[in-house]
Amino acid sequence: DSNGFQVVSHNMGHLMKGTLLTLEITALSVAFGMFLGLLAALLKMSPYKILAIPGIVYIDFFRGTPLFVQILLFYFGILPLVFDATSFQAAVIVCSLNSGAYIAEIVRAGIQAVDRGQTEAARSLGMNNRQAMWYVILPQAYKIVIPPMINEFIAMLKDTSLVAVIGAQELTHQGRILVSVTYEAAWIWGTVALFYLLLTRLLSMLGDYLEKRLATE
Ligand code: ARG
Repeated sequence: DSNGFQVVSHNMGHLMKGTLLTLEITALSVAFGMFLGLLAALLKMSPYKILAIPGIVYIDFFRGTPLFVQILLFYFGILPLVFDATSFQAAVIVCSLNSGAYIAEIVRAGIQAVDRGQTEAARSLGMNNRQAMWYVILPQAYKIVIPPMINEFIAMLKDTSLVAVIGAQELTHQGRILVSVTYEAAWIWGTVALFYLLLTRLLSMLGDYLEKRLATE
């Protein structure tokens, strides 16, 4: 019906604002997640149990429980004990921790995909293990890691829709508000879905481009 279309076009500003916030939460979470993920991967691969165990516990917890439950646990349970987090801050914190755990496994796979001979060669040149990791292994692992990292970005973009439950004003939250006010569920959820689809298509095109560029180097 034309009314549904009017509702959508009339509220385009809210939907665009939500889209922007979705992108913001996703980009921040994957950026922090890369840092956490690299740290956690290195911890998990450490020969020292005292370092490896915290890495393993962190990764297992965030990969082994639903993101939805993590959002509720942190927003209502853990963060209030620490500081008065806004729903946006809570969203970024939880999504970063979650993404970090997934990225840790991506990074670990990437590091392990670099030939063992590379470490042996670096060691035979007099580098210690840490130097071999930083100067020889990681610079090769980062290329291997790019395609799965883009996948993680796309997955996170969709999964941030779960933070609507704590009222972070992203795309899905905007959809919920608009539907509750206008009852135009088909038009609004259809538009929300279309926006996510456009964003994920855009990201995977960007991913294909990056992959090609790196392959020809
Ligand atoms: N869908 C899974 C869950 O709810 C994974 C969420 C995390 N996704 C991610 N890309 N880090 O637990």
